[in-house]
Amino acid sequence: VAFLTYTLAEANRRAVLRAQAAAAELAEANRRLTEAEASARRSERLAAIGQLTAGLAHELRNPLGTIKAASEMLESQKDGMPPVAAEMASYISSEVDRTNALITRFLDFAKPLRLEKKAVDLNRVADLAIEHLARQNPGSPPNVHRNYDPSLPPVHGDEELLERVLFNLIQNAVQASPPGGIVTVKTRREDGAVEAAVLDRGPGIQAADLERIFNPFFTTKSGGVGLGLAVSSRIADEHGGTIQVESEPGRGSTFVLRLPVSL
Ligand SMILES: Nc1ncnc2c1ncn2[C@@H]1O[C@H](COP(=O)(O)OP(=O)(O)OP(=O)(O)O)[C@@H](O)[C@H]1O
Ligand SMILES: [Mg+2]
Repeated sequence: VAFLTYTLAEANRRAVLRAQAAAAELAEANRRLTEAEASARRSERLAAIGQLTAGLAHELRNPLGTIKAASEMLESQKDGMPPVAAEMASYISSEVDRTNALITRFLDFAKPLRLEKKAVDLNRVADLAIEHLARQNPGSPPNVHRNYDPSLPPVHGDEELLERVLFNLIQNAVQASPPGGIVTVKTRREDGAVEAAVLDRGPGIQAADLERIFNPFFTTKSGGVGLGLAVSSRIADEHGGTIQVESEPGRGSTFVLRLPVSL
């Protein structure tokens, strides 16, 4: 009887363990399903925003073209004009240029990405992004410290698009830093992946904003559009990679682009 009781207890214990394992698996599956649903909703929302912006941007192009041509005509005749009229004409022209640049960014965002992949050296891509940023700010070149792994394996990716990602991350870091503040770009190999981290000692990001900063049009900058991170995370996605952020308000932020190494 003792033996029988023991066997039964043992069987019972095993059944309980199996049930617990099944419950844990079910909970995990449930969590993954909720996550997938959230991500599907997010991409549906993105697609809808994308279509709307593309339509609007497209419609704005033609009238802007007419305004631009008219303002150029006015500018070409400014000799006979009162000075204030000539000044207004130049405002119109430069504001049209600014609006056109904005529209190009909207259309870029809505356009499906076409990747031209090859073996890409992420150290070189980081150099290109830093040079690009320096060219855009000749008056105050960014103070970027390079901490590269010289034996970084190549990734299989689109060099131009990856440069855009690092450009956006470094630009944000520089914009978050005080004038002349150091931004660090660090690359390293991480089992099966390579990482490029962009670190700054700016004001950091509030925990509540950490997820929102990747939404299109989320910006806290007066001149910002809020597309830099949305575009960057889409490009990382298309490469099978990720962008992760860690930030401590008051101490700075670290954005890490992580990409699988090419086989
Ligand atoms: N390194 C950083 N430090 C602090 N805040 C940051 C940093 N990077 C991004 N952010 C926050 O995330 C927001 C969104 O960034 P994102 O690059 O998408 O847009 P943006 O820089 O505001 O405009 P743009 O379209 O010109 O890039 C920023 O407005 C800022 O609030
Ligand atoms: Mg930005």
